[in-house]
Amino acid sequence: MTEGTRLIRGLEGVVAAETKLCDLDGANARLAYCGYGIDDLARRATFEEVCCLLWYGELPGKGQLDQLTVSLVAAREIPAQLVDAFRVMPTDTDPNRVLQAAVAMLGMFDPDANDNSHAANVRKAIRLTSQMATAICAHHRARSGQAPVPPAPDLGHAANFLYMLTGRRPTPVTTKVLDASLTLYAEHELNASTFTTRVITSTDSDMHSAVAGGVGALKGPLHGGAGEAVMRTLMEIGEIANVDAFTTKALADKRRLMGFGHRVYTAGDPRAAILKGMAEEACRQSGQFKWYEMAVKLYERVNAVKKLIPNVDFYSAPLFYSLGIPVDLFTPVIAAGRIAGWTANIVEQYDDNRLIRPRGDYIGSGRRTYVPLAQR
Ligand code: CMC
Repeated sequence: MTEGTRLIRGLEGVVAAETKLCDLDGANARLAYCGYGIDDLARRATFEEVCCLLWYGELPGKGQLDQLTVSLVAAREIPAQLVDAFRVMPTDTDPNRVLQAAVAMLGMFDPDANDNSHAANVRKAIRLTSQMATAICAHHRARSGQAPVPPAPDLGHAANFLYMLTGRRPTPVTTKVLDASLTLYAEHELNASTFTTRVITSTDSDMHSAVAGGVGALKGPLHGGAGEAVMRTLMEIGEIANVDAFTTKALADKRRLMGFGHRVYTAGDPRAAILKGMAEEACRQSGQFKWYEMAVKLYERVNAVKKLIPNVDFYSAPLFYSLGIPVDLFTPVIAAGRIAGWTANIVEQYDDNRLIRPRGDYIGSGRRTYVPLAQR
């Protein structure tokens, strides 16, 4: 290993990039995008405004927002060949695998596929944000034996997503809940999937390759896959009366509890606090209050013993479920929000690139003499 360096497992605490995108203060439970607090953005801005902020560094005026909205709407179509591909994929395939393949395929059709200039990357960011949403919904319809719902040009990004998923126009309340969730997931500094996109970008590869890698990293249950795992835990518990017994056994078994804990936040995840309030409202309105109540009780029991904080994926699980989003689509929905941050990080990485290439600390055997196969 290079002299003067030391092994830092999991790169904990390592600073690997300068960024203007995300200001994460884990000790004080604070998070801001480009200087704007997450609470304000989630409650008062739209996802489209947040995309603009991340891609251009400023909140848009009305004219710029209208322009971006037109570009996002115009980019919603996906190639017919991609829809054909969805139809031949195994119907029980994990939608995360499908999304990863879809992003790779979108790269094959993108007019800027091999152009890594700043302007082309922003154009690709717009296209990917819209097309990923369409692809997630079109695949879900295809695997359910239904025709894709064409995007509705008069609907904003979040409302159009729910429309393409269900074929029904969502209420303003439901739209706001998803829109705010996408904002809360949009950016989070050098989390595992964003770091993945930066590593791929740093080799001078291209945006679609980087995002496909990001989807692969997000899928894991220690990262974005945790939301789905939280919902499966709540379903395993089944009823609020079972929470105590479940928690006692889970803690005794030293089970890893999904939706709890965070590498960086020690004083709480500010996104979870906002999502908790939204989940309470959404679960009440949809007649699925039981899942919210169960999550709160589970948190209280776990926190009393282990002092673990609930992270962003804890309350988004009952929230997404109450919106009628299928459990195995939770992670793709998170990707539909995180694409804004992934692409912004990719643009930032290209703008000031240096190959990311850390070292490994060799702990294998000493030098050995090669023995031909016949003599082994
Ligand atoms: N359940 C039980 N114990 C936990 C948990 C948990 N969810 N999280 C941390 N711990 C314990 C862990 O057992 C260890 O205890 P000890 O020191 O006694 O062995 C201690 O806390 C430190 O854990 P760690 O795994 O070394 O900490 P980390 O910084 O590597 O882990 C984490 C961070 C997010 C991977 C972990 O908290 C975890 O596995 N959580 C569950 C999965 C999850 O919710 N992931 C979503 C993370 S936030 C959103 C995102 O990234 O997309």
